[in-house]
Amino acid sequence: MNIILLGPPGAGKGTQAQRLQAERGMVQLSTGDMLRAAVAAGTPVGLKAKAVMDAGQLVSDDIMIALISDRLEQPDAKGGVIFDGFPRTTAQAEALDAMLAEKGLKLDSVVELTVDENALVERVTGRFSCAKCGAGYHDRFKQTRVAGVCDACGSTEFKRRPDDNEATVRQRMAEYHEKTAPISNYYADKGLLKRIDGMADMDKVHADLAAILNAG
Ligand code: AP5
Repeated sequence: MNIILLGPPGAGKGTQAQRLQAERGMVQLSTGDMLRAAVAAGTPVGLKAKAVMDAGQLVSDDIMIALISDRLEQPDAKGGVIFDGFPRTTAQAEALDAMLAEKGLKLDSVVELTVDENALVERVTGRFSCAKCGAGYHDRFKQTRVAGVCDACGSTEFKRRPDDNEATVRQRMAEYHEKTAPISNYYADKGLLKRIDGMADMDKVHADLAAILNAG
């Protein structure tokens, strides 16, 4: 099963994708994580992407399409993929359709997490993750069970993203409205779009998502 999670910054795409990956063995393809890994490794893609990401803008379609096309070649992608952060433009959505068709794969559902945008700045600016295993947390909404210790791997080192400050979050939301929100209609026209309430607590969002996957 292949699905796309849609929603603005902080809607909960990564949180839900990590959980589906752990429970169902699907693979989370987060283009944000892939770009951050490229930045950390200093690859040519990373060098191009860093300033764009720090400014809260979108990396070019050609880079993103090439990145996903390469990633879909890897064997684990055949067992079911959660696209998290891709596609983000109509050109990316069209390219994804072509890639999947060429590989004999299909898209089963596109799930949009609907949110009250006033809450998103707090969600994003309070986010942090384990520096070792990447498990995600929040200052208020998802604290570690033992203060300062990762629940998943026991590490005591955590990190925050450089683009998770208020000014950049607002720019990322503006980009979302201008370039990404229109693709909801693209998928609605294909009969693939479902919407769930992303403002519910994380377990409820997960249950709603699981119900869609189980029905599909
Ligand atoms: P990316 O990393 O994809 O960032 P994003 O889309 O802005 O999404 P976020 O990771 O901020 O939010 P999320 O929805 O995953 O929320 P999360 O689950 O963490 O992209 C970063 C940048 O890379 C882009 O700006 C762009 O420059 C570039 N890029 C990436 N893909 C691209 C593409 N395809 N094309 C072009 N450029 C691209 O949740 C947030 C917080 O809220 C967490 O702390 C969590 O604990 C908490 N939370 C989650 N759910 C709930 C809930 N239900 N209740 C309370 N708290 C919750």
